[in-house]
Amino acid sequence: MRLMSQSLGTTQNGILTIGGVSVPDLAKEYGTPLFILDEGYIRTACRAFNNTLKKHYDGNVMIAYASKAMSFTALYRLLEEEGMAADVVSGGELFTAMRAGFPAGKIFFHGNNKTAAELEYALQCGVYRFVVDNREELSLLDRIAGRMGKTADISFRIKPGIDAHTHEFITTGKIDSKFGVALENGEALDIVRESLTLKNVNLKGVHCHIGSQIFDTEPFELAVKVLMQFLSDIKRELGYTISELNLGGGFGIQYIESHDPPELAVVAETIAHAVTKCSAELGIPLPDLVLEPGRSIIAPSGITVYTIGSVKEIPGICNYVAVDGGMTDNPRYALYGAIYNAILPERANDECTTTVTIAGRCCESGDLISKDVALPAAHAGELLAVLATGAYNYSMASNYNRLPKPPVVMVADGTYRLVVRRETYDDIVKCDV
Ligand code: LLP
Repeated sequence: MRLMSQSLGTTQNGILTIGGVSVPDLAKEYGTPLFILDEGYIRTACRAFNNTLKKHYDGNVMIAYASKAMSFTALYRLLEEEGMAADVVSGGELFTAMRAGFPAGKIFFHGNNKTAAELEYALQCGVYRFVVDNREELSLLDRIAGRMGKTADISFRIKPGIDAHTHEFITTGKIDSKFGVALENGEALDIVRESLTLKNVNLKGVHCHIGSQIFDTEPFELAVKVLMQFLSDIKRELGYTISELNLGGGFGIQYIESHDPPELAVVAETIAHAVTKCSAELGIPLPDLVLEPGRSIIAPSGITVYTIGSVKEIPGICNYVAVDGGMTDNPRYALYGAIYNAILPERANDECTTTVTIAGRCCESGDLISKDVALPAAHAGELLAVLATGAYNYSMASNYNRLPKPPVVMVADGTYRLVVRRETYDDIVKCDV
């Protein structure tokens, strides 16, 4: 089914709806380009993780939404209502969560090169966990915490040496990754040993994130085995019990019809069983279990609506459909060769008769949204919706060519509200001095 998401529907006369609201009506009210997110999908995805883990895991569970996928104040309020924790990777994401009133006691602070100022800010806020990436960070955090008279609860980001078969730039668990400390060469055990000698940090957990947009459950089961073995080694070598296992995110979603990711509940259940089994086999206690899904919580909830400005047919080569946004609101084709499905929201039931390349409006040949997209023959002036854009689109948006960023509207069961307004030209120059 081309719509792919339960958030989307069509009326009898071919109008695309999201969360029960007409997409052309929203485009008329807020203009284009426009991001629309369906709150219903986000809540359902949060519950799929939370409820499944609670059902199949006897230890404590925490689902920390990965803010890097999409971050704005209203979203943190929704996440809190759903009993979610959050993962942040910068002072800016932390500030946004704090501004929204999200509890610092449910925040995991990530990043491979956190600054001293960020560590200080996070200590002040009282974040739940610092996920420490390397030795320099460990000693910096210990020093800053000592100076502030605080203790930082930490976990370590471990490279488990797993290849998760995803795009090179979004694989993160292999030894050549810039993230974390390696298991193979003893680096991970060394940093654990070192942390146990420090006064102002308190080691709670280990963490790994093996990559993103992963379709199999197997790499996650493998990660569980590797990290549970590490917990057992730490216990044996250092006599220390690690109480938290954080397996990161990376659960794949459907961008196009041929993508067939497992259901979120199936992934969560598989992980819960794998950890339980390893704990019994290794004779170590069930750790608190943390997952950090980003894309799978929010990508399928979102669409981007554009207005088509021109259609160029280059016979035998390709048809370009140019829209009023581009790599500034969705850089994923330019970065990863990502592909998307699209629909004409004003005639969503029309048959697809052409294959097009959707081009943006930036002065850059690589400014494409996607290639090989099936569409009905499209015309200038029509709306075009790109599907599954809720994650890593707005959050990676830029002001290249000094284009203002689009607004974000949330819909829920037939109602809608603006959650991020459109940038203005004044916003574009607001930092110029
Ligand atoms: N936890 C950690 C430590 C991470 O590094 C990431 C993503 C996540 C959780 C969430 O992963 P997710 O569930 O969203 O796959 N910009 C790229 C994706 C980069 C992901 C980086 N880390 C893209 O557009 O595909």
